[in-house]
Amino acid sequence: MKPNVIEPVAQQPESIADAFSALRESSVVLCANLTPEDCNLQAMPETSPAKWHLAHTTWFFESFVLGEYSSNYVPVNPLYAVLFNSYYNGIGEQFPRAERGLLSRPTLAEVIDYRTIVNEAVVELLSDTAHPQRELIHERIELGLHHEAQHQELLLTDVKYNLFQNPLFPAYRQQVDAGPLNNTVAPMRFINCEGGQLETGYADNAFCFDNELPRHIEYVAPFKLADRLVTSGEYLEFVIDGGYDNPDHWLADGWHEVKQNNWKLPLYWGSIDGQWLEYTLNGLQPLDESLPISHLSYFEAQAYAAWAGYRLPTEAQWEIAAQLQPVAGNLLDADSLQPQPASNAAGTIGQLYGDCWEWTQSAYLPYPGYQPLPGAVGEYNGKFMSGQMVLRGGSCLSQAFHIRSSYRNFFYPRDRWQCSGIRLAADI
Ligand SMILES: [Fe+2]
Repeated sequence: MKPNVIEPVAQQPESIADAFSALRESSVVLCANLTPEDCNLQAMPETSPAKWHLAHTTWFFESFVLGEYSSNYVPVNPLYAVLFNSYYNGIGEQFPRAERGLLSRPTLAEVIDYRTIVNEAVVELLSDTAHPQRELIHERIELGLHHEAQHQELLLTDVKYNLFQNPLFPAYRQQVDAGPLNNTVAPMRFINCEGGQLETGYADNAFCFDNELPRHIEYVAPFKLADRLVTSGEYLEFVIDGGYDNPDHWLADGWHEVKQNNWKLPLYWGSIDGQWLEYTLNGLQPLDESLPISHLSYFEAQAYAAWAGYRLPTEAQWEIAAQLQPVAGNLLDADSLQPQPASNAAGTIGQLYGDCWEWTQSAYLPYPGYQPLPGAVGEYNGKFMSGQMVLRGGSCLSQAFHIRSSYRNFFYPRDRWQCSGIRLAADI
């Protein structure tokens, strides 16, 4: 196996044990090109060390599967329940989030051993076909796999941010195929979409998170949606036009962030001797103006949309358009690890899935009738429904099996280290 190729996990695996083993292994593979020192970096409170992600996802299975359903499992180290508990008060105390980079022990090798022990115990539990709670175990492992996929994406965005702090600009991996720069991208066009009393929320019988339920009716005004994402070249026009210097484009809180943090450019942009550059997982590269702009905060996405004379879509509008399309695009399985130029046919809406998470103008709130999962896992989503904005569609760092039209991602409007971009919308 090449160290940086991610093995896809089938959406409906015949064997959940096979899916479990494949996905768990792929998390370790993501770290194959990193040194132990790389794996312990934490450049800001929001970014966890890669080693912590590997341990925390293991703790999730240890606590919520083995701890609840295995009668003979003995925890590897009782203190790991504190070190690697992220935010579950129902489980117990947590080591401070901002200090995860201080955990030089357990070592990376010990965390890998921890993973192996827990993996073997989970597979053994799954082999007990007579277990009276077999269905609940499968449901909980499925939740754990989607949790693992979320953390794979966070691991990559966190590694990128952490490595970026180093003036040597180390690459996460050596680029396999750079491809041509500045491809031709068709001019952005807008597709008219009908409104009405429309249903959104998860509608099938497979997996979804609790925050995608219940399916319910939303009133959606007729709207138009851009047929592709905003490119870096288009965003560069905003920068050159003084976009970061003009408060007229910005929300008050956004302008506060601009001034307080001295934002002048997107997070990973810079210039040397007049050449625009972008830091990527492949290291420092010439800015490719044909790629979708990524790693923007909600505030930057909103300011660009205002400058361009548009707005961001609501999450219901985005979902209405995405319901019509299968989940396909530049996702993690494609192994590009960065957004790619739009190539959809005229008259179609492209890049809905993959490339960049798309900021919406919708606050992250419960749907009417929302019920969190029972027990400690009920803390997974519901308690974060304050002050965050919804993003849709997945990114080039998202596992394909993990993405749906109803999937609601959420981050604070100032957050810019995720692979987040812009799709424009407007009223009709
Ligand atoms: Fe987590």
